[in-house]
Amino acid sequence: MCGIVGYIGHNRASSILLEGLQSLEYRGYDSAGIALIHNGHFDLIRASGKLANLATKIDPQHSAQVGIGHTRWATHGRPSEENAHPHVSQNGKIVAVHNGIFENFLDLRSQLGSEGFLFKSETDTECFPHLVERSMRKGLPFREAFSEALKSVEGIYALACMHADDAGHILVARSGPPLALGIGQGEMFIASDAVPLLKHTQRIIFLEDGDWAEISTDRISIYSSDHKEIERPVHDITYNPQSVEKIGFDHYMQKEIFEQPQAISNTLYNRLPLGDEAIPLALNLSDDSLKKVERILIVACGTSWHAGLIGKFYLETFSRIPVEVDYASEFRYRDAVVGPYTLAIGITQSGETADTLAALKELKRLGATTLAICNMQGSSVTRLAEATLFTHAGPEIGVASTKAFTTQLIALILLALKLGDLKQTLPLSKRNELIQGLRELPAHLEQTLHLETGVKKWAFDWHGSRDFLYLGRGPMYPIALEGALKLKEISYIHAEGYPAGEMKHGPIALIDSQLPIVALLPQDAHHDKTASNLQEAAARGGQILGLVTKGDATLQLIAKDLLELPKTHPWLAPLVFMIPLQLLAYHIALYRKCDVDQPRNLAKSVTVE
Ligand code: AGP
Repeated sequence: MCGIVGYIGHNRASSILLEGLQSLEYRGYDSAGIALIHNGHFDLIRASGKLANLATKIDPQHSAQVGIGHTRWATHGRPSEENAHPHVSQNGKIVAVHNGIFENFLDLRSQLGSEGFLFKSETDTECFPHLVERSMRKGLPFREAFSEALKSVEGIYALACMHADDAGHILVARSGPPLALGIGQGEMFIASDAVPLLKHTQRIIFLEDGDWAEISTDRISIYSSDHKEIERPVHDITYNPQSVEKIGFDHYMQKEIFEQPQAISNTLYNRLPLGDEAIPLALNLSDDSLKKVERILIVACGTSWHAGLIGKFYLETFSRIPVEVDYASEFRYRDAVVGPYTLAIGITQSGETADTLAALKELKRLGATTLAICNMQGSSVTRLAEATLFTHAGPEIGVASTKAFTTQLIALILLALKLGDLKQTLPLSKRNELIQGLRELPAHLEQTLHLETGVKKWAFDWHGSRDFLYLGRGPMYPIALEGALKLKEISYIHAEGYPAGEMKHGPIALIDSQLPIVALLPQDAHHDKTASNLQEAAARGGQILGLVTKGDATLQLIAKDLLELPKTHPWLAPLVFMIPLQLLAYHIALYRKCDVDQPRNLAKSVTVE
């Protein structure tokens, strides 16, 4: 939700800011803007719509060496140039960009309005530069006025703010949404996450909640809310900057789908035993404490929630520990009973999803041991949870999550195997078969990616459909949900995932000869039951698009079209079956001329509740 960038140094700020916003555009893209300090005043450049609109207005040769920028995902006020950030104070001397929500903005607006401050936008953010100006009118210097203004705002924010008469400093603050500071040689960089900084530096400081900081070309001074100067660690972030380029692919989503065999190898790297020894999965939780776990609670949102639903199958089967999976946004308000020996797992690719962070915080307060499954080093969840299991998928830029999902499944399998080892609930022979399956999985995924031509044909034939249904049973039900979510997100077609066995209890009424039904039929324990449910759907005219294991002829007579997937270990079929569903959503979206990487109304990282 909204991306913030900032630069202070000896290079041209305009192009650095623009480049930074390009890397952050996945966070929001309905309008954008930058402010540059130039001879004691601001050059303010803003545009509604995609960043490309802003880019045409920016002079890359602009000589300013300090500035801030923003790409917006609207919360207060429609997407327009007036509502685009940065926002300016009444006297034109202070600018600010903001990610988050000031919950008391109505009170602030009316208070400031009654004092004569005029608002030019509908945003909550505009209060902030006015608040800083108000404090400066009382005689406070910029820095102190900024910190006083912070005391007046309630809600969540990441903020960057500048004064036109002080080209030597940028002030930033964080309470909720992330803010990362990159340390260069005589230059400093600011961004909502580490990705845009990696081109310039790998030395990154992540602000903590309640921190604010003063940044100059050669120094970052960080303060707590009570003005005490504090230290925050400098992280050495190891992503390869190339991993945030499209390198030959048309879209990030396409690149990320094709990266999955490698991403999964990275998740598995050094985490599989060579023989019968224990799973070498290093976690910051002792084996003793894990042995005592009696219950697992998973909280997550969207795609990560779907991973959690599949994780439940792995964890319960391998470790015999009961598992519940909650939408993080629902968990917080359900007054859950959390006893001792509960392991709470927050699954979040970004590590910044506000709902997941809040749910995990609540679980921690209730006494659960907390573990994050996360892809982003240095993200908020890694600091909140007692331990983090990194997925090592590499940066995921496409708004529709793909490799983050499949690597989350691998992390959950590894965790379930480790708990199975510790609890001695999984026979060694079965465990070793699965480990062998995991070793073969990247090759099976490679083979599955070769089905793209067949999937493309499905996409061509069915991209005009109004609705889609995805059916599966057991772990294939969450895969059906995830397939439907992918399609909804990027093609705007209504799609539902449903447990195949539940159709007869109502939704079967929806089936007619116009409805494509994507049928997930791996060779697993549910195979024959699912096949019968698909017969029922076909008998009512449903157009079956079958995904089956190589050599399985079960759907031959009833399917409109069939694709055969490589045979893999039954527990790993969800990963193999997910690939054609991702490709199907991708190609349907292309045929419908949708913006695959930046679908309407969405943002990659949802940092508001
Ligand atoms: C998936 O394609 C989504 N864009 C979305 O559902 C996402 O998975 C969800 O917002 C959770 O994000 P997180 O994993 O970063 O917490």
